[in-house]
Amino acid sequence: MDLSKLPYEITPMVLDDVPTVHTIELEAFSLPWSAAAFAHELKDNPSSQYLVLRYKPYIYEPPARRLLPRVMRHLVQSPTNDPALLGYGGYWMVLEEAHICTLALRGEWRGRGLGELLLLSLIESALTRQAEAVTLEVRVTNYRAQNLYAKYGFEVVGKRIGYYTDNNEDALIMTTPNVIGTEYKSKLKALSDKLRERLSLEPPHTSAPCSAEH
Ligand SMILES: CC(C)(COP(=O)(O)OP(=O)(O)OC[C@H]1O[C@@H](n2cnc3c(N)ncnc32)[C@H](O)[C@@H]1OP(=O)(O)O)[C@@H](O)C(=O)NCCC(=O)NCCS
Repeated sequence: MDLSKLPYEITPMVLDDVPTVHTIELEAFSLPWSAAAFAHELKDNPSSQYLVLRYKPYIYEPPARRLLPRVMRHLVQSPTNDPALLGYGGYWMVLEEAHICTLALRGEWRGRGLGELLLLSLIESALTRQAEAVTLEVRVTNYRAQNLYAKYGFEVVGKRIGYYTDNNEDALIMTTPNVIGTEYKSKLKALSDKLRERLSLEPPHTSAPCSAEH
């Protein structure tokens, strides 16, 4: 989706994002990935693609970092909880299938179309990598996420019994129809247009952050 007129940006996740991503991960999931797992994915898994969503008015780079050439910015510690970073998502390309492996949004930013924006961005990204279908696993009790996926055409095609080891909960396997077909592409376009309209009307978040934690 073209975000140029909206106060959000979606960019590939980089190592500097990992501390904040991990903070959100801990809040969002009862079986969180470690920060090392995210770093490993970014460095060592060429079939993966991770995206982060930022709220532009909160983007702030301390002068100490801004003054350094980009390649040296890692020398100044990145924030462990960057308030501009609202959520993230990722997928693995496995042959012609994109497997969404994570998707999460800060708790206080949920329910305003931003989880949907991340999902749409993952699907659009997968399309640029010639994905023919998008698939994922979701807890049987995670109705909010299931509704979001159903909105984007995902259907339940199977179940993994006791997949989640914290409470032995089953996972539903959900898959899209063929995403390169014209039918799905027009569905995506219609959803994208509607979402852009929603995001341009939705009032911005009111409570500005005090400062980033370091
Ligand atoms: C799942 C998640 C990413 C969705 O993001 P969100 O910002 O809350 O959802 P959105 O506002 O973008 O809503 C998009 C759609 O999701 C569904 N949805 C959102 N909130 C819902 C709720 N409270 N109840 C039921 N469905 C809901 C609806 O289909 C909604 O479309 P609509 O607005 O046209 O009704 C977010 O809630 C989250 O991070 N949850 C914790 C982590 C998680 O469960 N990740 C998914 C793992 S599989």
